[in-house]
Amino acid sequence: MRGYLIAGNWKMNGSKAANAKLTREILAGWADTASVRLLVCPPYPYLGILAETLSGTPVALGAQNVSQHASGAYTGEVSPGMLKDMACEFVIVGHSERRALMGESSDIVAEKFAAAISAGLRPILCVGETLEEREQDRTEAVIDEQLDAVLDRAGIEAFDSAVIAYEPVWAIGTGRTASPQQAQDVHRHIRSRLAARNAEIAEATQILYGGSVKGDNAAGLFTMPDIDGGLIGGASLKAGDFLAIAAAAASLG
Ligand code: PGA
Repeated sequence: MRGYLIAGNWKMNGSKAANAKLTREILAGWADTASVRLLVCPPYPYLGILAETLSGTPVALGAQNVSQHASGAYTGEVSPGMLKDMACEFVIVGHSERRALMGESSDIVAEKFAAAISAGLRPILCVGETLEEREQDRTEAVIDEQLDAVLDRAGIEAFDSAVIAYEPVWAIGTGRTASPQQAQDVHRHIRSRLAARNAEIAEATQILYGGSVKGDNAAGLFTMPDIDGGLIGGASLKAGDFLAIAAAAASLG
């Protein structure tokens, strides 16, 4: 029983006041359900406040990035142990914006993933192809490279607690979503790649879709057999939009 995970990636948005309002509205509009979990990933400075606000509620807390190092002279970085200390359950690793804008290679992403697992965090590993790669029919090859780097380093057992997010780069923040079938095809491929190492873990791993998920396209995506929720950017910044996506999952759960 995989259930749905609806994760809000707030990216570099928000303020103390805006976050408080958003969180208050999400909590007011959400009734805990067995089949759907909600998660929010605010920017680092707000983790402490959010940890307090969300404590004892059905909404989980995660970070958007993490260092691959445990401690030491890494100015500006935040370690997995610190995130754990701040009550984070999840951390996003390898988001395409970090791969593209911060130069994170698949090897670095794999190190971050392994470090997160070691600290007891649940990483959400993002994978996805660019438009050019899709047009060159290289989608599966790109996903395999991103996935195998992590599997080779951390082992399939790490996916006992990890989550994968398939996010086609061309669908992120563009308003252009993969069709449910396009997404399902890649999700199935990812699951079979995991299954080649361990069928049981592959079957239990949640694979989220991300890229312009909205209230009106969520149900179509979530109804597909290998799509277990969403990693939501823009639509996670408005409680009504985020809750509509969560409600779509709950109606299928
Ligand atoms: P989007 O972002 O929902 O705004 O497309 C998704 C993401 O980058 O995680």
